[in-house]
Amino acid sequence: MKKIVILGAMSTIAIACTRLWANKECEFILIARNKDKLSQIADDLTARGSIVHIKTSDFSDYSKHETLSKECFEKVGNIDILLTAYGTLPDQIECEKNTDIALQEFHTNGLSVISLLNHFAMRMEKQDTVSGTISGTIAVISSVAGDRGRASNYLYGAAKSAVSTYCSGLRARLSRTGIHVLTIKPGFVDTQMTQHLTLPEKLTASPEQVAHDISGAITSKKDVLYTRWFWRYIMLIIVIIPNRIFKKMKF
Ligand SMILES: NC(=O)c1ccc[n+]([C@@H]2O[C@H](COP(=O)([O-])OP(=O)(O)OC[C@H]3O[C@@H](n4cnc5c(N)ncnc54)[C@H](OP(=O)(O)O)[C@@H]3O)[C@@H](O)[C@H]2O)c1
Repeated sequence: MKKIVILGAMSTIAIACTRLWANKECEFILIARNKDKLSQIADDLTARGSIVHIKTSDFSDYSKHETLSKECFEKVGNIDILLTAYGTLPDQIECEKNTDIALQEFHTNGLSVISLLNHFAMRMEKQDTVSGTISGTIAVISSVAGDRGRASNYLYGAAKSAVSTYCSGLRARLSRTGIHVLTIKPGFVDTQMTQHLTLPEKLTASPEQVAHDISGAITSKKDVLYTRWFWRYIMLIIVIIPNRIFKKMKF
């Protein structure tokens, strides 16, 4: 039985992942804020044959993180996949005008993710499998926005950059134990988060395409996933643009 814990189970990308993975061999713990919506997803996954537990939590409350990780391990024993999939897309202009909002957004997208990963990693690196060797994947949805701060969304980008850097170090630390850490960097994805934006059609992935890429990257134990694949090359170009040109760009 594969044990899967989803932090932010109501995210559109997370829902696509759970639908892809759900079968009789899976036991899920789905964690999100809204109990009614969670129950609907749980019913869907149960109908597909999986065992599903739900928990409500607002991840902004750090004081609950340790207990949350403890309860997850008590419920399923070892974790095979931990997927961190929650976040907000801050209004950059509002963040520039209001430091409280800026910090709140940084807490949600950056610090709270790091806090949760810290608690779960501590427990995962001690978990035993049937064969006696440690295994499992920590898959974290960051963003291409973390690769370089842009004027139009650098608050979000800064938080995602912190998460990506944290994951890089965590991967190096846990590689000695057998735990795989996957940093997921989506570009544009057609989800609840981006509903209010007009995204370029050719560069925008569906949540199902992203879920498929995530699933493949977990199986192949990839370190960093750009999804869709072409974002690796787009970001390669964006990162090397000299500052004298970059700071004049309107994006
Ligand atoms: N969509 C994109 O273009 C894109 C691109 C790059 C990276 N990403 C990243 O992909 C991940 C998934 O996002 P998505 O696109 O699937 O968007 P989404 O459908 O809007 O999902 C975001 C989820 O995060 C949850 N959330 C926000 N703050 C939370 C908190 N304090 N505690 C608990 N849950 C919280 C929301 O819960 P509620 O339902 O309760 O509001 C929502 O379900 C995020 O990390 C996002 O930054 C998305």
